[in-house]
Amino acid sequence: MSTLAILTAAGSGTRLGRDLPKALVELDGVPLVLHAARRLAAAGVVDRLVVTAPAGAAAAVRDLLTADPLVGLPLEVVDGGATRQASVAAGLARAGDDVDVVLVHDAARPFAPAALVRRVVAAVRAGHGAVVPGLPVVDTIKTVSGGEQDAASAHGSERAAGTVEAVTGTPERALLRAVQTPQGFDRALLVRAHAAGAARAAADHLAATDDAGLVEALGERVVVVPGDEAAMKITTERDMHLAALYAGLVA
Ligand code: CTP
Ligand code: MG
Repeated sequence: MSTLAILTAAGSGTRLGRDLPKALVELDGVPLVLHAARRLAAAGVVDRLVVTAPAGAAAAVRDLLTADPLVGLPLEVVDGGATRQASVAAGLARAGDDVDVVLVHDAARPFAPAALVRRVVAAVRAGHGAVVPGLPVVDTIKTVSGGEQDAASAHGSERAAGTVEAVTGTPERALLRAVQTPQGFDRALLVRAHAAGAARAAADHLAATDDAGLVEALGERVVVVPGDEAAMKITTERDMHLAALYAGLVA
């Protein structure tokens, strides 16, 4: 029995807008992918790492993580795919039969606490085939029709409303969770979910943004364990400052 962590780092970081892939951007002098790998290792429940690397950066990522004494785990670096789903699939292809639990974690979440990683693995080992960390949401969330955008205004051009979207519903906030990574899975279940997800992606060109969604699409049960604000995702420049706060890098 062993636990493999797939660390997704192959994205380009378009919304961050730097001149290098997001996973290689430094916070406190350390690239995000290295922060994330250190946190996974510190949990003490991960046996091996597979990292999905941005195009042309596999060797650099391998050198970075292999040389770091705080990682200290056997690791493999593979080329990522065109979508996050394809990158995870490439990593999952490296999980042999010895692996029973797979964690999928985003390098874009550099400060996932050790306790969170352990909580997710413990829930999978307790018999839950698919586990996601989640936090209650503070905003009221609306669903919208999407695509249907209307720039018309009732009051003429000087008071134009700009783009509007029709609201189609308000889910009960108490039942909503914002989910994070690491997400944890029984390996066989995740392999099955990705096989079905790859077929769907080929058919409709829509890739999933998280792995639990692929398991849900199979009709299998997914459970939520408490998340942690420190596991926040870095998407924009503002998030870089927030992540530094959570990491205690700034007062
Ligand atoms: N990722 C990946 N392979 C891809 C796309 C994304 O491994 N083809 C990884 C990213 O490196 C990141 C995680 O999936 O760690 C979540 O993706 P996201 O936050 O969207 O990162 P980017 O795709 O890099 O950012 P953006 O969407 O702004 O370009
Ligand atoms: Mg992306």
